Amino acid sequence: MKHLFKKGSDERKPVLLLLHGTGGNEEDLLALADMISPDSAVLSVRGNVSENGMPRFFRRLAEGVFDEEDLIFRTKELNDFIDESANKYRFDRNNVVAVGYSNGANIAGSLIFHYEDALKGAILHHPMVPRRGIKLPDLTNLPVFIGAGKNDPICPAAETEELENLLTNAGAKVHVKWENMGHQLSRAEVEEASEWFAKNFS
Ligand code: MLT
Repeated sequence: MKHLFKKGSDERKPVLLLLHGTGGNEEDLLALADMISPDSAVLSVRGNVSENGMPRFFRRLAEGVFDEEDLIFRTKELNDFIDESANKYRFDRNNVVAVGYSNGANIAGSLIFHYEDALKGAILHHPMVPRRGIKLPDLTNLPVFIGAGKNDPICPAAETEELENLLTNAGAKVHVKWENMGHQLSRAEVEEASEWFAKNFS
């Protein structure tokens, strides 16, 4: 997968896996990584799917309607890519925290829904429920931060609550930061994510 790797200055800090939103690329979230954990290594990936030239991490059939078969295939592809990258760049595969926005948050959520040890934690900015009707792995104590907008037209508040419940019921420790905003990423949300990160991963 097209990506960028930046070595960290402190090898004990989790590697940040950056996953952009629809139409973005691997450069988009670098500033977030600096705010969240400046000493961490960064693996920032570009989605392998193109929607009219816009990179995404999996196909969709319509706005908010995911192509489930492709989602499952792409989730495995990304999980394998993290495995390969850990070998290539010599980082600890068990110490990876995802930071995703929108479509990137959705594939991060899908990694959590499908693979028990894919991530050590996740910061999900404006995620949706990636899949319904499946049994989640044991997520005991997995720290998950969700940033959500009360007026998000792409991810309604009820869907955020549904995601929170699904993750909590599987054992994850979920923290939701609500804002009176829409789908956009706010500075306050990133600041709270970085405080949350310091508490959970220092
Ligand atoms: C998705 O397709 O993943 C969501 O609708 C978010 C987005 O617009 O990318």
